[in-house]
Amino acid sequence: MNKKDFSSISPSAKSLLLMKAYTSIPYAKETAALMSKDEVFGLKFDPSDFWFWIRVMHFELRYNSIDQLLVQTPYANVLELSSGFSWRGIALCEEREDVHYLDTDLAEIITLKTELRKKLGLGNDLKGKWEPAVLNALEKDSFQQVMSRMDSDPLAIINEGLLMYLNTEEKKTLCRNIRHVLSDRGGCWITADVYVKRSEDMRAALPQGEREAAFFEQHNIEANKFDSYEAAKIFFEDQGFSVSAEAQPEYDKISVLPQLMEVMPDHVKNSKEPPPKIQATWRLEAR
Ligand SMILES: C[S@@+](CC[C@H](N)C(=O)[O-])C[C@H]1O[C@@H](n2cnc3c(N)ncnc32)[C@H](O)[C@@H]1O
Repeated sequence: MNKKDFSSISPSAKSLLLMKAYTSIPYAKETAALMSKDEVFGLKFDPSDFWFWIRVMHFELRYNSIDQLLVQTPYANVLELSSGFSWRGIALCEEREDVHYLDTDLAEIITLKTELRKKLGLGNDLKGKWEPAVLNALEKDSFQQVMSRMDSDPLAIINEGLLMYLNTEEKKTLCRNIRHVLSDRGGCWITADVYVKRSEDMRAALPQGEREAAFFEQHNIEANKFDSYEAAKIFFEDQGFSVSAEAQPEYDKISVLPQLMEVMPDHVKNSKEPPPKIQATWRLEAR
């Protein structure tokens, strides 16, 4: 069997960054300004499009949801998996001198991120310790190697935007690698990747361009999502985890709310229904 080329997923990190550039997520605007606008989803970046702002809001909420659960933990050691062009680690190390943050992704992204960091002059004056490292999170040995850079205190492992690219076997491998580390050292796993399959109606309601649909198809995104939140809970329990907390969406902290409200159709504004839940961020503990 051919080995899967995970780097085919990496272009999605740029698409996300270009959307996050509209938010107040640390250094997203500055980083996006150094990049060309071409990206793999064929996004339109149309500020008059309600659905564009819905997606930007979704990714801002998702980013914030990890911070929300992370600050509730007592851990100073943090390992971020598949971090893409996120500077969450740098932002945290600007604030906290106790933090040791390992910021990891595949080689191509880490190389580019290292160049971007230099261009942006980020990380020159940190209180904490921030380190970029190459890590294919599905490779047990690389996982162990990267972990050897950190002392053996308990840690928070965090990630967003990876599980929907993994089939069930790959998700199980990732869970085994994470569980191994957490059983050794203690700590927790915060993942924003608890996405459930969407109904036909929901899929029809959310417009998707041709290129994005093709990328999703290529990576089996819809099939890789969980059948339900209950099924996701059972999956993680079967892999030796228990769910200890769920992040709550903080709409009041959303920086793009004014832009979203401006283009929100009246029937949505007047609706008493909460927005449909398509994703959850969970804190998991190894049992
Ligand atoms: C959708 S992007 C998410 C990036 C970032 N976390 C965010 O939310 O903006 C998916 C990321 O997963 C990374 N990735 C894909 N396969 C991986 C693997 N096996 N191990 C580690 N990272 C991987 C890609 O390089 C890419 O940066």
